[in-house]
Amino acid sequence: MIKQSKWVRAHTNIAFIKYWGKEDETLILPKNNSLSLTLDAFYTDTQVCFDKKLNKDILFIDGEEQDKKALKKAQVILDLVRKEAGIHEFARIDSKNHVPTAAGLASSASGLAALAGAASLAAGLNLTKEELSRLARRGSGSASRSIYGGFAEWQKGSSDIDSFAIPIDEADWDIGMIFIIVDDGRKEVSSTEGMRRVVETSPYYDGWISSTKEDLIDMKSAIKMQDIVKVGEIAERSALKMHALNLSANPPFNYWSPESIEAMRMVSELRKQGYPVYLTMDAGPNVKLICKASQMEELMEKLLQTFHKEQLVMAKPGPGIQILED
Ligand code: ADP
Ligand code: DP6
Repeated sequence: MIKQSKWVRAHTNIAFIKYWGKEDETLILPKNNSLSLTLDAFYTDTQVCFDKKLNKDILFIDGEEQDKKALKKAQVILDLVRKEAGIHEFARIDSKNHVPTAAGLASSASGLAALAGAASLAAGLNLTKEELSRLARRGSGSASRSIYGGFAEWQKGSSDIDSFAIPIDEADWDIGMIFIIVDDGRKEVSSTEGMRRVVETSPYYDGWISSTKEDLIDMKSAIKMQDIVKVGEIAERSALKMHALNLSANPPFNYWSPESIEAMRMVSELRKQGYPVYLTMDAGPNVKLICKASQMEELMEKLLQTFHKEQLVMAKPGPGIQILED
């Protein structure tokens, strides 16, 4: 028998308080709570089909069969779903990334969240948001947050049961993000490898953990107040601390390119001109600007003096996971 899901859509999220380190690599339990904003510009659509005619699992992204490494990540989710639903068929996963894959633009977040939704749907499991978040987490930590629209907090918990994301705020206020894509190629150090190296070798890691606890408290109250300046300042601080950890690892590494530095310089320049604009960066050279949604057009004009149109993407807060009706 064939069990095929409808298409499921999940949007990417960008962390304002970063997740950067695991307590448990198998269960993907993080060292600290993180908090993100789900965005409307980038997303993944996925369909899963369990079919007894298949003799192995297959993963297609944008029509291309993926290598063993990507398949293995996806199989963690497939296996959990098969176990829960008591089914034994192999699966075919068809996925379309409306986001560059593995370029620090959070394809793993939208990709694994959409997969959790589609695989559970194909298997006939009717999971709650909390259960979906836990399942997505097992594929990629940041995916746990893409189940929700707006701001979400991934509560680290202490076991598989209590480590999941919760919604924090719908973000239906004047906040947006401009992505400056300086490079959409694959990154050299994966987030999984980067955070492992930092946890094992950075002498600053304890400082990261203690200061992130305070950042999180301050961030939640800034979100409540809809205070873009405070939200931006804390987010920028969290991102720069994460990148400082990378420089302090052994061997050290970093994700910045000369164009990233140029984009960062522009952020300071825009701030001097009076715009509340702050930066965040993930495991890649692309720079994301946190700003007022109402000023995005104006800021785009300024950014276009330095960057090409194709390098800039505007985003507003996006929705949570959804089943696409045909
Ligand atoms: P990114 O910055 O894009 O999140 P990562 O290296 O953290 O980069 O994650 C990219 C990996 O996420 C891919 O190599 C693949 O394993 C997985 N991935 C991305 N998109 C999908 C998808 N649509 N379906 C399943 N897995 C995906
Ligand atoms: C820098 O969720 O991609 O984007 O759990 O190993 O799959 P794994 O890592 P992943 O890491 C995301 C790291 C980050 C920060 C964040 O999104 O919180």
